[in-house]
Amino acid sequence: MSVTLRPVTDANLVDVVELRTTPAQEQFVSTVAQSLAEARAHPEGNPWYRAVYDDEVPVGFVMLSWDVVPQPPDLNGPWFLWKLLIDSRYQGKGYGREVLRQLVGLLREQGATELLTSHVPGEGGPAGFYERLGFVPRGDVDSQGEIILRLDLHS
Ligand SMILES: CC(C)(COP(=O)(O)OP(=O)(O)OC[C@H]1O[C@@H](n2cnc3c(N)ncnc32)[C@H](O)[C@@H]1OP(=O)(O)O)[C@@H](O)C(=O)NCCC(=O)NCCS
Repeated sequence: MSVTLRPVTDANLVDVVELRTTPAQEQFVSTVAQSLAEARAHPEGNPWYRAVYDDEVPVGFVMLSWDVVPQPPDLNGPWFLWKLLIDSRYQGKGYGREVLRQLVGLLREQGATELLTSHVPGEGGPAGFYERLGFVPRGDVDSQGEIILRLDLHS
């Protein structure tokens, strides 16, 4: 596995927006096209996004709020994992874990001490994935009622 996080450009946009979860997972995460529209609509969230590649094959998409001044409950941060999608063909192969590993490295370089995310609870959702990677519930919900999780980046 040779995973890289690459900018979304005119050259790869078509391939990246074709990435899809399973239909049943669509309740838990937006499509790439919806995520890019959200990024444009919410510049206050300082969106930072990348396509996930294994060698030259696009396998996923990730989007963060990058070093924002938190304004809870609408804007959480400073570092917030906003979207994470691994295409259904490539799930369960360790890509999600590797993306998080690389993000943690990038964020520590920035001096970040925690990464937040949130999820919609439900059967087939990502709660177990986040738990395995060390996220714990912070004890609150965001303005959409999503459960906020926290990953400690110390050590
Ligand atoms: C959740 C998601 C990002 C996980 O990515 P992935 O590449 O399939 O996960 P990995 O293969 O890296 O799995 C890492 C670990 O989490 C576990 N895991 C993965 N998905 C899980 C789930 N839904 N529930 C419980 N555990 C899960 C794996 O078994 C693995 O455990 P191990 O390494 O200890 O054996 C991916 O399934 C996905 O895109 N889902 C749909 C969209 C979504 O819900 N995104 C998150 C909300 S924004």
